[in-house]
Amino acid sequence: MCGIIGYVGNDNAAPKIVKGLSLLEYRGYDSAGIAFLKDGAARIVKTSGRVDSLREKLLKSDKSYCAIGHTRWATHGPVNDVNAHPHKSGNVTLVHNGIIENYIEIKNELQTQGVVFKSSTDTEAASALINKYYNELGSEKDAIKKALFEIKGSYAFAIMFKGKEEIWVAKKESSLIIGYGNDGFYVSSDIIALLPFTDTYYVVNDGEIARISSDSAIVFDTNGEKEIHWQKSEQDEQNIQKDGYDHFMLKEMHEQASAIYNTISVRAKKEMPDFSDELASDFFDGTERIEFVACGSAMHASLAGAGFIEQLAKIPSNAYIASEYRYSVPAFKKNTLTIAVSQSGETADTLGALREAKRIGNKTLAIVNARETAIAKEADACLYTYAGPEIAVATTKGYATQVALIYLIAIYLANKNAQINAHIAQVLTDTLLNSVPKAINETMLRENEMKSIARRIFDLDNLFYIGRGVDYYISMEAALKLKEISYIHAQAYPSAELKHGTISLVEKSTPVVAISTNEQLYSKTESNLLETKSRGAYTILITSNIKTASEADALIFVPYQSAIERFFCSLTLTQMIAYYAAFFRGCDIDKPRNLAKSVTVE
Ligand code: G6P
Repeated sequence: MCGIIGYVGNDNAAPKIVKGLSLLEYRGYDSAGIAFLKDGAARIVKTSGRVDSLREKLLKSDKSYCAIGHTRWATHGPVNDVNAHPHKSGNVTLVHNGIIENYIEIKNELQTQGVVFKSSTDTEAASALINKYYNELGSEKDAIKKALFEIKGSYAFAIMFKGKEEIWVAKKESSLIIGYGNDGFYVSSDIIALLPFTDTYYVVNDGEIARISSDSAIVFDTNGEKEIHWQKSEQDEQNIQKDGYDHFMLKEMHEQASAIYNTISVRAKKEMPDFSDELASDFFDGTERIEFVACGSAMHASLAGAGFIEQLAKIPSNAYIASEYRYSVPAFKKNTLTIAVSQSGETADTLGALREAKRIGNKTLAIVNARETAIAKEADACLYTYAGPEIAVATTKGYATQVALIYLIAIYLANKNAQINAHIAQVLTDTLLNSVPKAINETMLRENEMKSIARRIFDLDNLFYIGRGVDYYISMEAALKLKEISYIHAQAYPSAELKHGTISLVEKSTPVVAISTNEQLYSKTESNLLETKSRGAYTILITSNIKTASEADALIFVPYQSAIERFFCSLTLTQMIAYYAAFFRGCDIDKPRNLAKSVTVE
């Protein structure tokens, strides 16, 4: 969950590294650093804080044609300048993404041999080990290979050796690509950071070691040197600009309608769900049970998705938190399909759960946004969402496209299992494809209404979201969004369950927001909300019950007919409440404290 970048070529490296790092900050922003080759030796500039602080520390004279850079999300050792990457040990300077699990053993052993460590990171153990073997063997490749043989854990490394204008890379379970530009070669955690320089890249595989210099890139696998098949990115640099919005999050909320349309339109043929371009025709045959594995918002999308599949297709479905699933796989009968859902495609816990599902013999499917990532590649099959690059750490359009795609799968399976006829399947697909994007765009026009709700709650410490069924799942995402970006503590609860304990936390002015979009449950959810009002809560009712006579303190209407339009309208309203609450609190909305967007460690 750190970002790494490197460049070697015939242009000045530092500005490229800094630009790339600013695009990689979504992976962590505790500290930033750069090492560049100057007169044959690595000069390091690093600092705790953001890439902007690093930029200020760099001198105009820091000109070099070979450099590596890093933006950190701390795992081992506090956030300070010393623990910032790059780390240098003798002839070796490197940056690292991942966790070296046996770093204490390596460090202890090296200390007995007289090596002195400066930082408290796991990474420095790797640089010291590679340096030791480099001094012994004299070969960069052999030194890296020998060190990797001892290192346990996950890693993507970019390594420079004293006096050599080249960068070596190696990876295991952390993403890494090589870029091929007009002015040299690049390495990066992600293609996004390379888009200002090149759209041509190669995804390094686990176990491969590569070397880039100004005029060549060479990749070695276990059989020796291998041919590189370069690919072109579909991403456009334009997609990673704020386009006049104050924050990426707001921009991405506005992009939700088109992201859903793009995700669904490629799979809606004659208004019917159609996965024939991506999945074998018998892919879902014999599926008796579906389980989702995911983290964070993707987990909330999975919960909603499992509900849709059960209701529409009548296939037993559950969603599991990936980090729990991987160490306590549920008892199940045969013919389970495991669906791993991930925007980034590289979340370590989700990848671990996917591997566990494969190990026990489940068929697997990935729903992923970032192309060619580990989760996308390791599942038996993959359906990509078409959200485009998502930069804000708090997901909006990534989550929305996950829900939409799973809903399309639910329609497909319902029709396949004869739970709904073709006509109903067409109506549902058309609603998802056309009406849902329209509903989201209309909802986004209600910013002022949501601003006034946010103004009412932004200076309070606690808030509850309540709902039943799918409204509860929206509540979970709504509460997470508010917590993530505004730091207001928020909890989602099934409406009726609140009275079994948690209602004791409700006191005068505690905001309680009920989401109520199921006509069968209107009166029940509204009663639960009023139970909190009787105890002093400030009550907000988000409801599609246009005829409600609720005495809630604030009413927010969801004026749509279909359940799926109501879902996305309610979701969008709560995203705006979170956004404006954070805005009024003066929070760093796109980069909330302590978080990273891609969590590549367990
Ligand atoms: C991190 C992010 C969350 C995200 C979760 C899963 O914790 O901060 O916003 O939902 O990872 O990410 P994924 O990329 O797997 O969807």
